[in-house]
Amino acid sequence: MNIDEIKRITVIGAGQMGHQIAMLSALGGFQTVLYDVNQEFLVKAKEKLTAIMNKWVAKKKINQKAYDEAFSRLSFSQDLKEAVKDSDFIIEAVTEKLEVKRDVFAKLDQLAPAHAILASNSSTIVNSLIASATNRPEQVVNMHFFFPPLVMDCVEVVKSDETSEETAQVTMDVCKKMNRTAVLLHKEISGFIANRILGALQKEAVYLYENGYADFADIDLIVKKALNHPIGPFELMDLSGIDVGYYVMQQQYEESGNPADKPPRCMEEKMNAGQLGRKTGQGFYTYEKDGVKA
Ligand SMILES: NC(=O)c1ccc[n+]([C@@H]2O[C@H](COP(=O)([O-])OP(=O)(O)OC[C@H]3O[C@@H](n4cnc5c(N)ncnc54)[C@H](O)[C@@H]3O)[C@@H](O)[C@H]2O)c1
Repeated sequence: MNIDEIKRITVIGAGQMGHQIAMLSALGGFQTVLYDVNQEFLVKAKEKLTAIMNKWVAKKKINQKAYDEAFSRLSFSQDLKEAVKDSDFIIEAVTEKLEVKRDVFAKLDQLAPAHAILASNSSTIVNSLIASATNRPEQVVNMHFFFPPLVMDCVEVVKSDETSEETAQVTMDVCKKMNRTAVLLHKEISGFIANRILGALQKEAVYLYENGYADFADIDLIVKKALNHPIGPFELMDLSGIDVGYYVMQQQYEESGNPADKPPRCMEEKMNAGQLGRKTGQGFYTYEKDGVKA
């Protein structure tokens, strides 16, 4: 299979990542279906995408014709069978839990056409752990977008020992058509490249904070002013969602058994208090309307 044979893409999961990946796909010229188990998420996804794309038109990032064409290619579905029956390429963006993803992939394997490639947007889970729930491991790959996908221009494409060269190449080409820079990882490693480097930075930042060396806001300030990072590690945890980072660490701990990989105390406390970052108005920082710091 080559990129010219990829006409239809289905995105599974309309959360923070999925809805924007679906928009990238529609903008890239693919007939796109966004599927979720939850109707409310689909309604919200459409509202959010309309608002973002209206801003893109106002800022002249795209013209009205491109806007109209992209939305004419994008549909929303709560029926998995219908959503994947004609799909050539499927991108899974559901909750970061291995059992949930394996269950989704087993269903996709039964319902999607035999030629379809199954890609996971997981932040950490290597595709071989998910592919073993299917009968097509050579057509399973990681396709890791960054948050928010409509802004961040990078995708890590990861091959397992079983992922075919063809699957990896088509996935790289799909990224290109979605106007994203794809980087290929030749071997699997949990957390891939960017999140492993980020994780090491966050771990150290949390160690320094929990042991009273400096306040979290001052650690953010040092990282921004001294290291020239655009955003501090605590600000970033609030932005991407403390629950997201928590599940990533939990998953890494389950895989490694290393207590150093366990989510730290301050994140455990935020999870228990439902303070998940910008999306709840409270994380390490407090936010007013539109995610602006109080
Ligand atoms: N948020 C980030 O910063 C980020 C960045 C890169 C990758 N990711 C990865 O993307 C994936 C999704 O993360 P998110 O932040 O969008 O999560 P989210 O919680 O915002 O969205 C998950 C969506 O999946 C849906 N869902 C759950 N089970 C489902 C099922 N069985 N079938 C269909 N839909 C189902 C939920 O209804 C929800 O809409 C995760 O694997 C995560 O690791 C997240």
